[in-house]
Amino acid sequence: MPKATQLECSICASRYPADTINNLCTCGGPLLVRYDLDTIRTRWLRRDVPNGPATMWRYAPVLPPSSSAIVSLGEGWTPLLHARRLGSRIGAESLWVKDEGLNPTASFKARGLACAISMCVELGIRKVAIPSAGNAASALAAYAAAAGIEAHIFMPRDVPQSNYIECKAYGADVTLVDGLISDCGRIVAELGPQEGWFDVSTLKEPYRIEGKKTMGYEVAEQMGWELPEAIFYPTGGGVGMIGMWKAFDEMERLGWIGSRRPKMIAVQAEGCQPVVRAYNENEPRSRFYEGAQTLASGLRVPKPLGDFLVLNAVRESGGTAIAVSDEEMLDSGAQLAAEEGIFAAPEGAACVAAAQKLLANGFLKPTDRIVLYNTGSGLKYLEAYSTRFPRTASTEQDKLGGLITPR
Ligand SMILES: Cc1ncc(COP(=O)(O)O)c(C=O)c1O
Ligand SMILES: [Zn+2]
Repeated sequence: MPKATQLECSICASRYPADTINNLCTCGGPLLVRYDLDTIRTRWLRRDVPNGPATMWRYAPVLPPSSSAIVSLGEGWTPLLHARRLGSRIGAESLWVKDEGLNPTASFKARGLACAISMCVELGIRKVAIPSAGNAASALAAYAAAAGIEAHIFMPRDVPQSNYIECKAYGADVTLVDGLISDCGRIVAELGPQEGWFDVSTLKEPYRIEGKKTMGYEVAEQMGWELPEAIFYPTGGGVGMIGMWKAFDEMERLGWIGSRRPKMIAVQAEGCQPVVRAYNENEPRSRFYEGAQTLASGLRVPKPLGDFLVLNAVRESGGTAIAVSDEEMLDSGAQLAAEEGIFAAPEGAACVAAAQKLLANGFLKPTDRIVLYNTGSGLKYLEAYSTRFPRTASTEQDKLGGLITPR
């Protein structure tokens, strides 16, 4: 089976060989991996897919690493759960949650970083660096550990505790930065060349998007190759949305689906909504969102590099962009947990609140098949959820910080 044929710039369409190390195009545009889909479609049929592994590597023919380079911790092929009780409360007959919290390191970031680290193995890269809102750092640290690659991580100082502890446990070199992911990105860009680090910042390398696009392949396969009417995606950098949009095009070229697309709905936080603002102002790109603030750390991205690709997918699909408050995220997260047994990250819970609004205002119909992406586990956000469920230190055991001691 042929692998990737080339890398193509998403802005100027310049091409680069697939087997060379690249970050951005010389014009500054993100690079996309291209395949010989005309040949692949004759050798890999839709009905063969279920014979593949129960991971995202069941789609290996449209992923860039060769099989010997793959570094896997079991990422992908997450469940698509029918949310019946929540659906009936908010007026959706066919509401589904794609639960990405079940991935290694408990978020969908595992998909992108598994693919990127596998490509580092393939290309002989030994040192990587990442600016991260949190979960991407955890995933990078885990896959770098699995591959024996050196990982340098830059995260905001107020990142959730889970992300910091995970990265340290995986043996990464961690720097906490007084600032946002954009400040972390500047540091990586400055230090990277002199330190010999490969920069795996969102969209500054071509492979994370490839891993994340498998969320699009999976939802198609899990719905019997009939895409839903709407997809809600919590949008920070927007890579998952861009990846799924790419996956749908590839699947059409493979002859697996038709030309109909789901309405792609970008969900952001009220305190950081550059994509929503650009969508409402009819702009092709976003502006830097000053004073970005939200407890959904993954959504605290004030200026996504791939904003134009996200806005394009939203507009072409007839979708929309919508912001929800932090309060709404925690309320929806608690309701989703209590009604469906799914403890979502605030980012995923934001999709519940957004769906409720778009059903109430008639943008979506009760009969539409709706998929919400829960991009991570609520267990990674205990500081945020503990504001909803405070504990008072009333017993000796609690005073000891939860240590299990003999009574
Ligand atoms: C849990 C969670 N959801 C969503 C996002 C946003 O992801 P994307 O960059 O694909 O928009 C992040 C990014 O950090 C995240 O950690
Ligand atoms: Zn270019």
